[in-house]
Amino acid sequence: MYDLAALETALRGSIFDDKLDYFATIDSTNTHALAQAHEGAPHGSVYLAGEQTAGRGRGGHQWHSRPEDGIYVSILVRPQLPADRSLWLSLIAGMAVKTAVAQAAKLEADIRWPNDVLIGGKKCAGILVESAFAGNAMRHAVIGIGLNLNHESFPEPLSETATSLRLASGHLQLREHVLLNLLTALEQELAALNSGDDVLARFTGASTWVQGKPVSVAEDEGYTGVTCGLNPQGFLQVETAHGVRTVRSGGVRPSEL
Ligand code: BTN
Repeated sequence: MYDLAALETALRGSIFDDKLDYFATIDSTNTHALAQAHEGAPHGSVYLAGEQTAGRGRGGHQWHSRPEDGIYVSILVRPQLPADRSLWLSLIAGMAVKTAVAQAAKLEADIRWPNDVLIGGKKCAGILVESAFAGNAMRHAVIGIGLNLNHESFPEPLSETATSLRLASGHLQLREHVLLNLLTALEQELAALNSGDDVLARFTGASTWVQGKPVSVAEDEGYTGVTCGLNPQGFLQVETAHGVRTVRSGGVRPSEL
C-alpha cells in the first residue's frame, strides 16, 4: 500500500494536484485511464495500482505486474501536440523514467528506442503510450509506465531480460520516493515539449541506441543495420545495405554486424 496522504501532499501545486486515483487491484491502469479520458478527466490525472491483473505491454504483450513489487501507473495528458509529433510523448516519458532512476536510486539507465529503460542491458521499465486524435491534433494520450522496483527475481523467461532497481542497486527502494521523482520529471518533460526545447537532441544524448548501434529490427521481413539518428517525428533511422530505413513500430535488438 502506498502512503497516499504523503503522495497527495507532495503533489500539491503540481499538474497532478488532487488528481491521484489509487486501486489496490485493477485489470490495467491504461485501460482505466483511456475510459476516464473519454469521460472528460483532466490533464494530469494519475491512475496508480498496487497490482494489475491484465497489465498491457507494447506489441500486445502482457506486463508482469506482481503485487507491490513494481510501480504501475498511467498518466492522462492533453498536450498541444500535432499528430505527427505523438511519438515525442514516448520519448519524453522514457527520459523522465531515466531521470527518476538516476535521482531516486542513483543508477545510470539507458533508453532503448523508443522507451525501454535498461540497466546493465536488462529492462527495468516499460512504457505504453496510447493516444487519441482529432484531425491533426492530439486529443489526449495515456502514458502507462511499469517500473520494476523491488523484485528479487522474475519468472522464466523474463529473468534473462528483466531487472529491478533493487536487483541493480542492492537495496530496497521506497515506492513513494521513486514515484514522486518520476512524476516531477514527467511534469518537467511535458513543460519542455511546448518550450522549444530540443527533445530529439536530448533523447539522442540520453540513449546509446540512436547513433552507431548495430541492431536487428523485427519489422517487415526483419532486417539489420546501424542506427543513424531520429527523423523529425522521432522515428529511428537505420542504415542498411540497401539504404536508410525508418523503424515504425519498435522492436530493435542488438545485432552482431
Ligand atoms: C512495454 O511493453 O514495455 C510497456 C509496458 C507498460 C506497462 C504499464 S504498467 C501501467 C500501465 N498499465 C498497463 O496496462 N500497461 C502500462
